[in-house]
Amino acid sequence: METITIAAEAKKERYDELLPQISALLADESDLIANLANVTAALKMAFSHYSWVGFYLLKNDELVLGPFQGKVACVRIAMGNGVCGTAATRRETVIVQDVTKFPGHIACDPESRSEIVVPMVRGTHLCGVIDVDSYEPDSFDETDQAYLEKIADIVSVKF
Ligand code: SME
Repeated sequence: METITIAAEAKKERYDELLPQISALLADESDLIANLANVTAALKMAFSHYSWVGFYLLKNDELVLGPFQGKVACVRIAMGNGVCGTAATRRETVIVQDVTKFPGHIACDPESRSEIVVPMVRGTHLCGVIDVDSYEPDSFDETDQAYLEKIADIVSVKF
């Protein structure tokens, strides 16, 4: 049986414990949907500051909802739109400390207050993004960015 075990209290140490377990979870499995689904489950159970975590996958130049944990969410996001489409177009991580101040933020859940979106790129190909929301403002920092970018790298090779 697959299990994820995290003992540390502090965020960075929790990511440090989680990362090798995510790599192990994906190592022997090639099914993309199964892998993405397990990554969202592992992240959601590890971090109480996440209200929603999921993937948007690039399909025909549009971001389409993939596996996620949390409330139902908007299905299609155009490139350049919202936080997800902005990060995808720039191919850069975007951290929004207060979503009410981000022009064009797409409020799938009106209770969301802050967000981080990390692009997944394999070679020159944009695969999609990892999107994380929080009900608290200022929830995400460079630690979340650094580790979510590592997770994006681990996941991107599975596309
Ligand atoms: N807030 C995102 C939309 C996706 S949901 O947060 C799940 C955005 O502005 O792109």
